[in-house]
Amino acid sequence: MAIPEDVISEIKYRNDIETVISQYVNLKRRGKNLVGLCPFHSEKTPSFTVYPESASFYCFGCGVGGDVFSFTSHIENLDYIEAVRLLAEKSGVALLEDGYDDSMQRLKNTIYEINKQTAKFFHSYLMSPQGKWALDYLTGRGLSLKTIKRFGLGAAPDSWDSLITHLKAKGFSINDMLAANVIGKSQKGSYYDRFRRRVMFPIINIRGNVVAFSGRAMPGEDKMGGKYVNTSDTPVYKKSENLFGINIAKNHCNDRIILVEGNMDVISLHQAGFENTVAALGTALTGEQINLLARYTKEIVLTLDADAAGQKAVKRASQMLENTGLSVRVVVIPDGKDPDDFIKKNGAERFRALLEGAVSDIEYKLLMAASDIDITTDDGRLKYLSQAAKVIATDDDIMTRDIYIGRLCDKYGVSRTALTAKVEEHRRLNRKIKDKKEISEIIHPKFTKDDINPERRNSVKGTAAEETLIAVLLQHPDFYEQTKDKLTPDDMITSLNKRIYEVIVNTLEGGRRLDISVFAEKLIPAEIGYLVSLQNSEKAGNNAKTVLKDCIEVILEEGMILKTKSHKEASVDDWASNLKNMIDKKHKGN
Ligand code: UTP
Ligand code: MN
Repeated sequence: MAIPEDVISEIKYRNDIETVISQYVNLKRRGKNLVGLCPFHSEKTPSFTVYPESASFYCFGCGVGGDVFSFTSHIENLDYIEAVRLLAEKSGVALLEDGYDDSMQRLKNTIYEINKQTAKFFHSYLMSPQGKWALDYLTGRGLSLKTIKRFGLGAAPDSWDSLITHLKAKGFSINDMLAANVIGKSQKGSYYDRFRRRVMFPIINIRGNVVAFSGRAMPGEDKMGGKYVNTSDTPVYKKSENLFGINIAKNHCNDRIILVEGNMDVISLHQAGFENTVAALGTALTGEQINLLARYTKEIVLTLDADAAGQKAVKRASQMLENTGLSVRVVVIPDGKDPDDFIKKNGAERFRALLEGAVSDIEYKLLMAASDIDITTDDGRLKYLSQAAKVIATDDDIMTRDIYIGRLCDKYGVSRTALTAKVEEHRRLNRKIKDKKEISEIIHPKFTKDDINPERRNSVKGTAAEETLIAVLLQHPDFYEQTKDKLTPDDMITSLNKRIYEVIVNTLEGGRRLDISVFAEKLIPAEIGYLVSLQNSEKAGNNAKTVLKDCIEVILEEGMILKTKSHKEASVDDWASNLKNMIDKKHKGN
């Protein structure tokens, strides 16, 4: 960390975690801690916990955790450093702008710069005579030059090394290009441009940085690598957290945002005047994307083509949106077309009419329920009404339910009392199911530590020992004296815990204070959450010293077992020297 530690401490001291989080979450005291409903996922029973003693927070539901800086960074959608800056500003601590040169932040900045130069390179190529094939394709699809510029569209030449050569000339290293995922490395060890002969869509985040690319093959040329090639996750990009078009849409979506499936749909709708359109980058809508949307808009209009896949996607999305306070409407695009096709064929006004007629989620479900039932027969009507009661029961607002009940009664000539009773029956049933689910979620949290540390399965026992050791050291950094000579980071079994232990060792060896902040740049948020859960666990108890000793023993032994397992073919000498090493370590300092 290049922001001086005393400055970080000062900012932390002035931004008491309880006060900061209280601005976003309604906290209630529970013992020495505070609990509330997690702002990062939807829940009905509080599993979000604030620990004033260690100035940290952790959500048992979704696994997010950290210190006051990580909290701010999550909730305000800022980088960690930006969050530090924000809290510094709020509490009047002065920061020297050139004060940080932290390595992770530096890498991120380099990647942003590589992406920017890459986008420029692709754009100039598109506009050059050599890029005519791609420009013809885009204009052939109805895009104006203005739109092409606005979205910074480009084209990748049909070449294995044009981009590498270009970026090299700009002074970027191969490793940084790899980190940005704009180039790849072959099995033989040579490097190549990842995007070749494709139309390029830069993906731009909410702060206007180019974070990734999506490259579309020319029609009929998608055998190699598929129709779209996309940037994988990098230090600056996580597909599940971004939305294509959000950089523009965020300024046009106070009332509603239109969610479509494809990049081309976004561009074509923007060009037609619907600048409040975004796409979920080829994934099913994720919780993170919903959080992002919820910060900018009140209503989401889901568009879908009338096919089964589209309907399934909407069903899933509307379930996810249920507890967010966002309202949801659905536009069905007729003839199984996507919005881009529709608008090209029918024009913007017809699309607007579709939007205006967008039905509420419940109306849509009622329509769908009717679609495969023959409602001309008494039998069919009964079946439909019973389905409809189920749908209406999902709405928590009594007035809304009443309106729909009234409509159906008028239409099908049934009594209000009968239909209301049916709806209430479903509500009781739903409540029971929900209660059961919530109880089981408390007992078995959806989030498991295995997601964070997948190597646990190699040695459950060893990993548990690592976790206890880390927990004890976080709680009693002075006990580091006990592990110092007996356990090096390389002895750790799982790579995550190795990274964590490395930070602990470096921090304490450097005579610095062991605080969650020191992990910020080395771990991803979910890993920080894992760490905070360890920090606040009650693993150590009273005899921490004995516990530590046992942990070290188990880690070394389990590590040994794993090594022999994985080096079955390795020579006996290796094995013997490993064993000797281990014995030496165990005896050292005893
Ligand atoms: P579509 O196949 O519907 O593409 O995929 P599209 O956006 O309508 O493109 P055009 O109109 O044929 O040019 C929808 C989205 O799914 C993702 C892309 O984000 C695409 O925009 N996708 C699709 C991929 O990531 N990879 C693929 O191979 C295909
Ligand atoms: Mn399309």
